Amino acid sequence: MRKVNFTETVLRDANQSLIATRLPYSKFEPILETMDKAGFYSAEVWGGATFDVCLRYLQEDPWERLRKIRAKMPNTKLQMLLRGQNVLGYKHYPDDVVRKFVECSVKNGIDIIRIFDALNDVRNLEVAIDETVKQGAHASGTICFTTSPVHTLEKNVQMVKDLKKMGVSSICIKDMAGIMGPKDAYDLVSAIKDAVPELPLVIHTHCTTGLAFMTCLKSVEAGADVLDTAISPMSGGTAQPATETLAYALRQLGYQVDLDDKALIKMADFFKGVRADFLKDGTLDPISMATDTQCLNYQIPGGMLSNLISQLKMMNAMDKLDEALAETPKVRADLGYPPLVTPTSQMVGSQAVQNVLAGERYKVVGKEIKAYCRGEYGRTPAPIDAEIQKKILGDTPLVKGRFADSLEPEFEKTKKELGDTAKCDEDVLSYIAFPQVATAFFKDREAGFPKKEEPKKAAPAPKAAPAPAPAPTPAWQGHVYYSHVQAPAAPGYTSRVIEPFAASYRPAYLKMDTGIDCTGTFTITIDGKPFQVAVERADGAAPAAPVAAAPVIAAPAAAPVAAPAAAPAPAPAPAPAAATAATVAAGETAVKSPMPGNIFKVECSVGQSVKAGDVLVVLEAMKMEIEVSAPVDGTVKAVSAAVGTAVNTDDLLVVLG
Ligand code: CO
Repeated sequence: MRKVNFTETVLRDANQSLIATRLPYSKFEPILETMDKAGFYSAEVWGGATFDVCLRYLQEDPWERLRKIRAKMPNTKLQMLLRGQNVLGYKHYPDDVVRKFVECSVKNGIDIIRIFDALNDVRNLEVAIDETVKQGAHASGTICFTTSPVHTLEKNVQMVKDLKKMGVSSICIKDMAGIMGPKDAYDLVSAIKDAVPELPLVIHTHCTTGLAFMTCLKSVEAGADVLDTAISPMSGGTAQPATETLAYALRQLGYQVDLDDKALIKMADFFKGVRADFLKDGTLDPISMATDTQCLNYQIPGGMLSNLISQLKMMNAMDKLDEALAETPKVRADLGYPPLVTPTSQMVGSQAVQNVLAGERYKVVGKEIKAYCRGEYGRTPAPIDAEIQKKILGDTPLVKGRFADSLEPEFEKTKKELGDTAKCDEDVLSYIAFPQVATAFFKDREAGFPKKEEPKKAAPAPKAAPAPAPAPTPAWQGHVYYSHVQAPAAPGYTSRVIEPFAASYRPAYLKMDTGIDCTGTFTITIDGKPFQVAVERADGAAPAAPVAAAPVIAAPAAAPVAAPAAAPAPAPAPAPAAATAATVAAGETAVKSPMPGNIFKVECSVGQSVKAGDVLVVLEAMKMEIEVSAPVDGTVKAVSAAVGTAVNTDDLLVVLG
């Protein structure tokens, strides 16, 4: 009887896919001892977004979380997800940082490190694999599944052979978008099993399109050894298929499954409660638990499709959706068929939208695409279209060899710089991975976490005798929860975002954790940046006595284009003085915005002489930084671009003379 093993993902991928990784340690601690007895091959508990979210939102030290899980689960292999040379982010880190991160992960309790690269470039995996092996842990070499004319079985088999040479103890096929069909899986698993029969093979997929159960079954038939699953209440939709269901089906088909059903029942009961809480507070959107086949039609991941639609909506250009959808596979082909996974999925999607909106292909190109074309992300599966590469890069030189080889060691230097702020090597790594977030976290920790995260539950019932109206807090340093959930605004309240949100923070909705009437203007500080938010009653009534409303859910944050115009109060910070109503005289050159967006940075000032190609202004549009460069040599006569303001296509940014 052939045995099939299970990796439980509830604490990492299911947590990340369904509830944006918002599960705090305190909430799942009671179930860890039961999980430890369930007989899992491994439990995926760390890495991915857990690290960032712990520091950013949960006031938890991710390393401490890992140590606590380790202590409660001594019998189960703990697993993490690592993005190769990118560690937990999207930029390349020098080798010493990658090695130190792996070392500390193992030291703090990790047994298995699943290592992947968005481009499947094995050069981005080798250092992480090498160090994992050196630390005596299990390196699982990962293939990001994708389909394209160049992603042949032979190519995948070659990658597996390369990974074996690097010393991995298992192979994982990672289907991050849930687009691997049962036949894809059967063929790929068969080919890999033929090539490296001695290495256990793990299947990781998502239920998004509804294919996952069939894909898992056919994978097992073809020889897969381990399946990633999630306990049933946290399974399905954008998460993994249910643990109990697959265990049942596989036993019926005659496979050996060594899971303890009693432990699974206890886990399911426990996580039903967790699910109910997150449904109640809106963190879990029922839609993310449903099946969505749309991305099978377009052959692009679901997350990417919704991203594309939201970008077009923001640009008021939904009529261009068909064009953008047709352009997407063309851009992917131009760029050498990258697998569509973060960040390449955003890059390809945004570029397709830009090509359509600008009316000319690759007229507007983001910084990330430039870096990609230079080779900073690694070797592309197929060569980038040479003409397009030339148009994008001009004379910018290409990266030779492995990008990380050009990076200076960073760990010891950063450790010295941080001094007492970092209490241990793990702190230094937290800082290197997320400098701003870690700095804020260290400060909070120093102060004993004065403002504890409120439990995100409905506000308490109204008091019998409401207190007199409180004066609105003039400056409220609070937590802002982001939610992609399209929850309706709480009755009686709307909000208005006065300052447009900075590049990386444009939540569709703000939810403030207060149960009282909080009409007024607030300064909300996110990562040290103040944002002005006005909250007012939708019915226009004056601020009243505290009402026992549900936590205030602000209405959709105004689209950046509308934001400045909507400002009812004086801007709190003076707008950059550079902003002027410039005019263009004869002989002068107007530098205009190539597309709608926000002014992210102004990199020139009046009087400065610039050369053609120098960056004058950086726009933030569609989650990308777009550099606007000088078309000619000249002197800056006027700057109309002001940081934080919204611009439209052809709005004047800079005048050159
Ligand atoms: Co996943």
